Amino acid sequence: MLESKSGVFFVAGLVFFGIAFIVMGALPYTIYRGIPEESVSEMIEEHGIVPEFVELAEKFPTRFEEYFGTCDSDSYEAALRRGHRIYIGEACWHCHSQFIRPVSMESSRWGPVSHAREYNNELQRPVLFGTRRVGPDLSREAGRRSNDWHIAHFYKPVDIVPSSVMPEYPWFFDEDGYPNRDGMAIITYVQWLGSWLEEYPYYLGEGPNGAGAVESIDMSGVK
Ligand code: HEC
Repeated sequence: MLESKSGVFFVAGLVFFGIAFIVMGALPYTIYRGIPEESVSEMIEEHGIVPEFVELAEKFPTRFEEYFGTCDSDSYEAALRRGHRIYIGEACWHCHSQFIRPVSMESSRWGPVSHAREYNNELQRPVLFGTRRVGPDLSREAGRRSNDWHIAHFYKPVDIVPSSVMPEYPWFFDEDGYPNRDGMAIITYVQWLGSWLEEYPYYLGEGPNGAGAVESIDMSGVK
């Protein structure tokens, strides 16, 4: 077989496939399989309920009670799980990433490159890295915008960002224009994304009092 050129390429192809399988499949599997994945309830126990969920309960008491009951860890977990399913079902991942890559100076726009531990929880299955980024990365969206901002934005994105190509989601609202069960769930999920991080990286220079935590990058040596 190795006398002909095609034979050499065939064998080389098999060898490279084998190496790729070991390095990118078998090796990470053996290294990481012992690390326990955090369940939603464990995360809630450790990090508590995001204030935006409590705010939904206070702002829309009757509707909230109808959809989720009382505002506690159980209803928070139910809303998170529902929001996660909606995020998948509405294909938000088609336009939004949840992954800051170590290329294209993404860290100067979105904050530090994503770390494996950010994905070690139940709501990261299936992995929602996304395939392209029509809209901004959402992996650390928690607390970046208010609930009111999200409500107005989901209802009609161009009212908030005139150049937006994000679709409208009128089915997240009831006939009176208030967020319905799905609306509250998706807002809860979005307000949860990255909320457990100890150091919360604001990006694009936005944060409390406009103070961005994104480090400035010295470009003086770049020609
Ligand atoms: C067709 C592509 C597209 C789809 C689908 C889409 N978005 Fe967007 N989204 C965008 C674009 C573009 C922006 C930036 C402009 C804007 O804010 O409207 C954006 C902005 C956002 C923002 C604001 C981020 C910020 O802080 O500035 C959130 C939150 C968001 N989208 C959530 C969602 C969710 C949740 C879904 C699914 C229900 C979704 N998007 C579906 C394109 C999309």
